[in-house]
Amino acid sequence: MPDASFPNVRSRRLRRTAAMRELVRETRLEASDLIYPMFVDDRGPPRTPVASMPGVDRLSVEAVVEEARAAFDEGIRAVLLFGLPASKDARGSRADHAEGVVQRALRALRDALPDLVLITDVCLCEYTDHGHCGVLDGETVANDATLERLAAQAVSHGAAGADVVAPSDMMDGRVGAIRAALDEAGLEDVAILSYAAKYASVFYGPFRDAADSAPAFGDRRGYQMDVRNSDEAIREVALDVAEGADIVMVKPALPNLDIVRRIKDEFRMPTAAYQVSGEYAMIEAAGARGWLDAGAARLEAAYAIRRAGADLIVTYAARQLARTL
Ligand code: PBG
Repeated sequence: MPDASFPNVRSRRLRRTAAMRELVRETRLEASDLIYPMFVDDRGPPRTPVASMPGVDRLSVEAVVEEARAAFDEGIRAVLLFGLPASKDARGSRADHAEGVVQRALRALRDALPDLVLITDVCLCEYTDHGHCGVLDGETVANDATLERLAAQAVSHGAAGADVVAPSDMMDGRVGAIRAALDEAGLEDVAILSYAAKYASVFYGPFRDAADSAPAFGDRRGYQMDVRNSDEAIREVALDVAEGADIVMVKPALPNLDIVRRIKDEFRMPTAAYQVSGEYAMIEAAGARGWLDAGAARLEAAYAIRRAGADLIVTYAARQLARTL
């Protein structure tokens, strides 16, 4: 038997040509693995560029349909909608309004692109005047009162045509409350993608510009997870799976690839990772300065997220990636 070490073994044999590397690669990435987030704006012109997210615009309902059609033609099969409402108040009344901007976008997209998977972000921070993810009791977000609002929002999205609702608020018990409300409304086929392990993160900064959802006081550490914790992510996912989550998500992606791997190994659930606004902005900003090749960086990051165990990647770079793939 030859010795299984150098010089009998030469790892470089399989790295010699692009064709050889392609043959032995372990991780695949397709446009259909990507979820494309979009901001639907009830107030602005058709397209308003987001300064801190080059290449991302806030879109009117008509522009969302146009953008989704272009993405679909490039191979993307799912979009994630965020709403920028016409008005905000303390309880986020526009979140579950039948004529809300997300509800109108859902109906327009359902008509125009029947094969596109429509996912909606379920959270109140874009709809409340104080910018927190639920209704307040003094200066804290009241958990149980918020559950009712989230359930109403999810039902409203389901009724308007959402295939999947994605709660991102991190209230306790939200997945169960949403599942029960959907079933009660006859929407048992609407799936739940839970932002199960969502960390409090500075990488959400550009998103809060885009969605105009920065909290007016304090921060989100009272409900989002502490970056120093890993076992807690396992407990969060276990709770959401028990409450009826169909897909679980980790967010942000690159700083938490260890969590993606743990969750995939432990639960074997369809698992998503969200490459958030700050992760996107860093690559685009460095690329614009010529400090790195943004195209190659987008691809490397996406492969790394897939390799860590994510089946699905939510990314603002979905269209750029789909065109490269
Ligand atoms: C709503 C929500 C946020 C993001 C997704 N859903 C913002 C937040 O929690 O502050 C962040 C997405 C991104 O940064 O791209 N709660």
